[in-house]
Amino acid sequence: MKKKIEITVSLEVIQKSEWSKEDRSLIERAIHAVEHAHAPYSNFMVGTALLLDNGQIFSANNQENVSFPVGICAERAVLSYAMGNFPNNRPVKLAVVAKRRSDSTWATVTPCGLCRQTINEYEVKFGHPIEILMLNPGEEILKASGIDQLLPFRFNDLNS
Ligand code: THU
Repeated sequence: MKKKIEITVSLEVIQKSEWSKEDRSLIERAIHAVEHAHAPYSNFMVGTALLLDNGQIFSANNQENVSFPVGICAERAVLSYAMGNFPNNRPVKLAVVAKRRSDSTWATVTPCGLCRQTINEYEVKFGHPIEILMLNPGEEILKASGIDQLLPFRFNDLNS
């Protein structure tokens, strides 16, 4: 039999009626940030909110550019700002919401590969998982307990 390495991942699905106060306020901040996304090329507007261990919440959104690769995702924008200004405060949870400009319902969103690797960076820096909350079109929160649930087999060590 061929040898295999298998990893199972899971996300918690949380109905709106069961959201915690903390999760709700983080999602609300991310929703607010969606409105200020600069997404004239994709019309896919993303908002994010990040809770630090000192209780502060920062938000950001995607900022696109006419030279497409120059644009930055909401998740990396908020992590860069918060980690650049509060380098000693551990990120606790990150909420992400998205909306197509023409739609009235939420779009399905999960962080892209670059953002996953960025989240991993700060998990490693602080030695602690970062919860990731993603709003889905049914207004449920999909909750990952840490980046290992979204980015198994990730690159983590230059020396091994
Ligand atoms: N985007 C984000 O900001 N975060 C995600 O999790 C998914 C994608 C942005 C990048 C680009 O501005 C637009 O959404 C379409 O890909």
